[in-house]
Amino acid sequence: MIPVIAIDGPSASGKGTVAQIVATKLGFHYLDSGALYRIVAFAIQQEGMDEADETRINQLLDTLRIEFNLGSIIVNKQDVTESIRSEECGKLASKVAALRSVRQHLLSLQQSFCQTPGLVADGRDMGTVVFPQAILKVYLTASANVRAERRYNQLISKGISANIMVLLQDIHERDFRDQTRLESPLKQAADAHFLDTSALTIDQAVNQVLIWYSAVSK
Ligand code: CDP
Repeated sequence: MIPVIAIDGPSASGKGTVAQIVATKLGFHYLDSGALYRIVAFAIQQEGMDEADETRINQLLDTLRIEFNLGSIIVNKQDVTESIRSEECGKLASKVAALRSVRQHLLSLQQSFCQTPGLVADGRDMGTVVFPQAILKVYLTASANVRAERRYNQLISKGISANIMVLLQDIHERDFRDQTRLESPLKQAADAHFLDTSALTIDQAVNQVLIWYSAVSK
């Protein structure tokens, strides 16, 4: 069976950074499942559609041609790599991610990333729904204050102005929405390792995941 490492956790926990480094170190493929929900949100914004209009959103989903190409994300021939990273898009992504039809639509696309020699997948429901067979599941989190600070530094380093109190408020709202929705809510899988990175460096978090992986892959 192709090995999958599922890394789930709340917004701005740093799981994307950790997952990408782990994938590179192991020579595995990498799936940023949040990018898919952001792509849907971006398309809805571009079309000026109502975020609750499931019928139109379903029609829109059928028209999206998504390609991941050497670090770039191309949707219907448009490069959306940077545009989907806005806070606006993240917020809308968390709203449309609650729609059952959107999750259903993205399921097989996510599963198609599972290819040899292996996959590191990051998201909210990688270990619980998309890859329940994952050989290693990690629930990676950090305190809300630390996450707000990390998001703040990330935005500032990109030259985007930010307010830490607003970011903290957004993180609380996003956590609440992701954890309380009916469809695939964010929760720790019963067989997942818990990793609180509040006081860890990226390298320490990566090493911990690699240690767990080497223990199960023998
Ligand atoms: O960057 P951040 O961690 O805030 O979010 P992301 O990983 O880019 O995902 C954006 C939104 O998509 C999240 O707030 C979730 O609501 C949703 N999502 C999801 O429902 N399931 C996933 N597997 C990944 C993301």
